[in-house]
Amino acid sequence: MLEVLNHPLITHKLTQMRSKDTGTKDFRENLDEIAELMAYEVCRDLPTQPVDVETPIGPCVGYELSKEVVIVPILRAGIGLLDGIRRLVPTAKVGFIGMYRDEKTLEPHEYFAKFPKDLDKSVVMIVDPMLATGGSAVAAIDAVKKRGANNIKLVCLVGVPEGVRAVQKAHPDVDIYLAAMDEKLNENGYIVPGLGDAGDRIFGTK
Ligand code: URA
Repeated sequence: MLEVLNHPLITHKLTQMRSKDTGTKDFRENLDEIAELMAYEVCRDLPTQPVDVETPIGPCVGYELSKEVVIVPILRAGIGLLDGIRRLVPTAKVGFIGMYRDEKTLEPHEYFAKFPKDLDKSVVMIVDPMLATGGSAVAAIDAVKKRGANNIKLVCLVGVPEGVRAVQKAHPDVDIYLAAMDEKLNENGYIVPGLGDAGDRIFGTK
């Protein structure tokens, strides 16, 4: 499943992020706010279970989340989406995965991974602002599946068709959420028009 979350607030904030004149502070704040807005939609189908509640007036049946949510930012740019999602799901646990790209083969390799236990019983949200070639996303999904995850959502800000196709081919069971679908990749692997290097813009590096 692919869902592009077209919403005026998300589009407005994303437009500010795209501008080359937007500095680190505003870039990060807009990303944080978009993450929160996206989380509302991404969580729409989270499973719930009935629970007996006693209100001040009497008994009723309420519903509570029945699965843990685990957010997994792909280091380092994925960290920019973490706080916004956590504001909506404050009980979520957080795993981290770091990947570097082999300069010869261009294949992504895991250099760091730390996950909470019971991934097999959790809804796992892998988060990364840019879905470009899809290589890191596919490798991150491989990594959580290897550790038992079976209910996985991929949450990215901007994607391109080739990245979406790569993830769908490797992991057809994973739901993909985007704020925007852009045109293509350039020869350096950047999304066009995109927003540049998300990690550099979040952290003020170059
Ligand atoms: N990663 C980025 O940060 N930006 C792109 O355009 C593609 C990958």
